[in-house]
Amino acid sequence: QRTQVAIIGSGPAGLMLGHLLKAEGIDCVVLERQTRAHVESRIRAGVLETVTTDIMHRLGLGARMDAEGLVEDGFNLADGDMLVRIDIKALTGRNVVVYGQTELTRDLINAAPERGLNIVFEAADLALHDVDSDHPSVSYVADGVAHTLACDFIAGCDGFHGPSRRAIPADVVREYTHEYPFGWLGILADVPPCHDELIYANGPRGFALASMRSPTRSRYYIQVPQGESIDNWSEDRLWDELEGRFNGISQHGVTRGPALEMSIAPLRSYVFETMRHGRLFLAGDAAHIVPPTGAKGLNLAASDVIYLSDALIGHYRQRDEAGLLGYERRALARIWKSERFSWSLTKLMHSFPEQGAFERRMQIAELDYLANSPAMQTAIAENYVGLPL
Ligand code: FAD
Ligand code: DHB
Repeated sequence: QRTQVAIIGSGPAGLMLGHLLKAEGIDCVVLERQTRAHVESRIRAGVLETVTTDIMHRLGLGARMDAEGLVEDGFNLADGDMLVRIDIKALTGRNVVVYGQTELTRDLINAAPERGLNIVFEAADLALHDVDSDHPSVSYVADGVAHTLACDFIAGCDGFHGPSRRAIPADVVREYTHEYPFGWLGILADVPPCHDELIYANGPRGFALASMRSPTRSRYYIQVPQGESIDNWSEDRLWDELEGRFNGISQHGVTRGPALEMSIAPLRSYVFETMRHGRLFLAGDAAHIVPPTGAKGLNLAASDVIYLSDALIGHYRQRDEAGLLGYERRALARIWKSERFSWSLTKLMHSFPEQGAFERRMQIAELDYLANSPAMQTAIAENYVGLPL
């Protein structure tokens, strides 16, 4: 078995990369450990920047997103009963689109057969070989049969827990990590959203987020202590908390309904700067994690994939190696700025256990300042809609 680019992982990064390469006639195979149903049902990101929607349009796969996605011209930051609207459309001329990662993933997977993109689901025991030689390969087991896929390049798009990053020798690794003492408890339910736009709220009880997937489907999150067990949270307890947080500041108030999904995600910042080693290139969560405040995770995966597909297309079309040589530097420049934005919004909008009364007043003062400063609002808005490529 042989291909030009072996792509590990069928999350947003691997799927978008596979389609972008295939559209240029570059041969690739996507290898995924999970079942298709598992990949399509993982509830994660909800807010897409133009960088992501542009990829879907470029691929000719934006029709459902355009029809069903919600165009958002603004979002809100709140503290207690102070609600500050950031008019991203007026401040930047751009907007974001609410369209679930599950839907994006489904559109990309559905289009794979007609585009000739081969996705191997349930690829077990995957391992990378000879990544710093000119003959790398990936071995895996499918349907009980062992395979070896020889290739020119490996794209490690296998998320934070995948094997690609670990295939890079420790002596060349540059990595940075930052933990937060809390996680987000999320709930998805078929009830109308409490507000027409997103609300990121802080308060004496910490962070809460009112988001949505459609006019009839809501997504909420609240801050919970690190290591919190989901068993401590009945649906009623969570709805009580959300009503307390949002009923006073939202347009419509919180509507309760049965949970379609409830889960806790830890928060961390992480950058693995060694995004290239020999013929292995990392993209997306395989190389970096942002805390979800600011909705940057999926959109950073998209910008990585733009840079990497440009580089591979340059290599195969024009024998131009500059893109491959510059990939790491180009990707990291945007990654670090998104890390900064996500970290600063996380600090502004959460309760920290060690926080004293002074730090709390600083959070309130910053939001009060933001409420009346177009300069500060513009800085937040241009980060939220996504920095230029
Ligand atoms: P992933 O989506 O993680 O995809 C990696 C793929 O690689 C997976 O399909 C995995 O099964 C596969 N894989 C792993 N190991 C192997 C292996 N050994 N062999 C083969 N395949 C393998 N971002 C936001 O912007 N907003 C949010 O609200 C938000 N919420 C999140 C909630 C959770 C619980 C998590 C975990 C993430 C969230 N994110 C959010 C981040 C966002 O979902 C990610 O940034 C995005 O999924 C990154 O895409 P990716 O393709 O790089 O990685
Ligand atoms: C959602 C998640 C985020 O992390 C965010 O910043 C905005 C929205 C969501 O899941 O809807």
